[in-house]
Amino acid sequence: MAVQINPSILSADFSRLAEEAKAVEGADWLHVDVMDNHFVPNLTLGVPVVESLAKATDTPLDCHLMIEDPDRWAPRYIEAGAGSVTFHVEAAAAPVRLAREIRAKGARASMALRPATPIEPYEDLLPELDMLLIMTVEPGFGGQAFLDIMLPKIRRTRELISKHGLQLWLQVDGGVSASTIEQCAEAGADVFVAGSAVYGADDPAEAVRKLRDQAAA
Ligand code: DX5
Ligand code: ZN
Repeated sequence: MAVQINPSILSADFSRLAEEAKAVEGADWLHVDVMDNHFVPNLTLGVPVVESLAKATDTPLDCHLMIEDPDRWAPRYIEAGAGSVTFHVEAAAAPVRLAREIRAKGARASMALRPATPIEPYEDLLPELDMLLIMTVEPGFGGQAFLDIMLPKIRRTRELISKHGLQLWLQVDGGVSASTIEQCAEAGADVFVAGSAVYGADDPAEAVRKLRDQAAA
């Protein structure tokens, strides 16, 4: 299982996004948190910023849509340059149709679960996805404490992926750091989003390398 580290631009300096994106070149994907102040109580950035970021970096963009009506908006983020689009199942009107549309438009289709959303009702949807995101904090803000009560869900999801012989990636997002990444990897995650642990470090690129080594150990 190849380990991937996706720094979250949410913890970067928003007045210097291009530089901050370049500071983590070498990371697998750049995680871009889109929040609309409805699905979550915070507002970040939208399509025009994603479009500019896509031009500013060679790192592919992993767009995490924490928004209402992802059915309508997800295609716009692909057109803006996202290589992977994650929608929340709690917000999607038609998750299967949406995942198929994302794939048809040439991006990786990913679905996210808030901490209180169980994986079991969605077992049959897994073949429609390229990645599943298990939130390890309540979405909305960077720098929150990792919810270790999510570890059993990560483990159960990995078992379902194996049981069905699927290739989809299992991403964790929220509170992932040097002190929590090993537990996540051990439970079966293979894609790690890290915001404050990367951009809060003196050398963000070095922080990415260290997290990767820890997760792969
Ligand atoms: C939170 C966002 C995360 C956030 C993670 O709702 O989805 O991607 O940036 O930040 P850290 O790694 O600081 O918890
Ligand atoms: Zn995120």
